[in-house]
Amino acid sequence: MRKPLIAGNWKMFLNRESAIQLAKTLADRTGDITDRDILICPAAPLLSEVSKVIAKSKIMLGAQNMYFEKEGAYTGEISADMLISVGCSYVILGHSERRHVFEEENTSINKKVRFALQEGLKPILCVGELLEEREAGRTEKVLREQMVEGLQKVPLNSIGRVTIAYEPVWAIGTGKTATPEDADANQSFIRSTLVDMYSGGVAENMRILYGGSVKPDNINGLMARENVDGALVGGASLKADSFFEIITFKAH
Ligand code: PGA
Repeated sequence: MRKPLIAGNWKMFLNRESAIQLAKTLADRTGDITDRDILICPAAPLLSEVSKVIAKSKIMLGAQNMYFEKEGAYTGEISADMLISVGCSYVILGHSERRHVFEEENTSINKKVRFALQEGLKPILCVGELLEEREAGRTEKVLREQMVEGLQKVPLNSIGRVTIAYEPVWAIGTGKTATPEDADANQSFIRSTLVDMYSGGVAENMRILYGGSVKPDNINGLMARENVDGALVGGASLKADSFFEIITFKAH
């Protein structure tokens, strides 16, 4: 009952030409796919062009970040309204690179989540533990904190528009994927925190994606797990062939 979502996070890769080419190829090849949702998240300057290319396809558009104010003197920042005006429906928030390279914290991530919802965007809230947190047995504590603080004051009537992405930091861009069992166990834990925070119904309906070195050869195993409802794909989303193989994972 949870429709799978396969999302590509293009990060700070591609330029106008290569982004248009990739989007075109994906749009052409995914026309028949209806049983899963497809999302691409190009870098901000590429959104407008990519949006035109995928306008008639089923592929949805998302951004990789945004600011939590409506507008103003915030040099270098991007507003929700700007993203919506170029065709975005989703925005990735709290990605581990934002947390660890740009020192974003749960408090500002929470402001962004609430603002995105208020403006009509669907946030993908990323959560995940560092290797040292995992080795110290602190994974659940970290995940719980990121969930509780990241979703603070998100009301019941808008929680249904949130997607969670579980991305263990040690698995991002490293070629180390969490085993399907590991991903499932941690995503089951995330779902159980949603039961505590909201309700069984909210938890049951929430799409929880896995991210971290998702590739064509590990996607089927991951998607076979009960609590894995899709994938947030970095490196393997930059090539049409590998992303298409991931999109067309075999449902069990
Ligand atoms: P990766 O990135 O697939 O290259 O590990 C995933 C992500 O950071 O969203």
